[in-house]
Amino acid sequence: MKKESESVKHYSTAIVAAKQVVNDRYCKLALEATLVAARARPGQFVMLYLPSQYGPMLPRPFSIFAVERDKGSITLLFETRGRGTALAAGLDAGQDLKLLGPLGSYFPEPQPGALLLAGGLGIAPLAFLAKSTTVPITLVYAVQKADHLACQPEDLSRPGLKLLLATEDGSAGFKGSAINLLSNQLEQASALYSCGPRKMLSKAASAAAKAGVQCFISLEERMACGVGACLGCAVKTGQGYKRVCSDGPVFQAGEVILNGKT
Ligand SMILES: Cc1cc2nc3c(=O)[nH]c(=O)nc-3n(C[C@H](O)[C@H](O)[C@H](O)COP(=O)(O)OP(=O)(O)OC[C@H]3O[C@@H](n4cnc5c(N)ncnc54)[C@H](O)[C@@H]3O)c2cc1C
Ligand code: FES
Repeated sequence: MKKESESVKHYSTAIVAAKQVVNDRYCKLALEATLVAARARPGQFVMLYLPSQYGPMLPRPFSIFAVERDKGSITLLFETRGRGTALAAGLDAGQDLKLLGPLGSYFPEPQPGALLLAGGLGIAPLAFLAKSTTVPITLVYAVQKADHLACQPEDLSRPGLKLLLATEDGSAGFKGSAINLLSNQLEQASALYSCGPRKMLSKAASAAAKAGVQCFISLEERMACGVGACLGCAVKTGQGYKRVCSDGPVFQAGEVILNGKT
């Protein structure tokens, strides 16, 4: 998978340019981070060192959701889950913090007819990928119910992008599994790109393999260092263990053992 040279690991200081509370679950954070904005590729992530009054804390990984290279800024989209994300949601414009990135491998450039499948917060790297190209592609954004949409269709739209929503309860878009929605389009797709829950990735990878379509997946694992040193994020692959932070997070689907099978 495509990667930056191992030597490109920038620690930098970022300034919070803006914070947008999307709803009681999700938050967007725009950061002035010129070096990261200049280098970031879709699928890559940053490690945020969140200022904690209770002493040092491990940094937290976040995918890059959007980049404005002319402004030197990146945007992160996240769900408040625990201590780290609560601290991130508590940041205010003007505050500074340390970050490391951009890190990890990135998605190959989509060709016309590519299918992108985002489950839940998997929308973060795929929104960046969808906006990074002008070729006609389809983005399927699947969540449990309409309240769980972390970004609205108008935030994702661009000419040439076909956006399909899927919810389990039918409260927005197609009712049911995103894999069902995908299946009749997969054979014509140039490739499938996916990020989301492991179960969804596993089904997407099997469907793509059956249709003879190349599939790229982005994995999430709990991380400590983010740079390949601690082995805390290792996943099983056909060639032994690989590190999600430095060998991934983007892998060819057939490489990783997602569900007992490569
Ligand atoms: C490469 C990568 C990119 C990511 N991108 C995003 C993103 O764009 N937006 C976003 O909201 N989150 C993203 N995450 C997940 C995010 O890093 C975690 O939600 C965050 O670290 C949780 O920190 P916390 O201190 O708030 O929660 P903790 O207190 O550490 O944990 C709270 C709960 O969240 C669960 N959790 C923590 N980390 C993860 C994880 N990596 N995967 C699944 N569950 C986890 C824990 O098991 C626990 O139940 C990404 C993770 C990785 C590895
Ligand atoms: S988080 Fe340390 S090796 Fe990946």
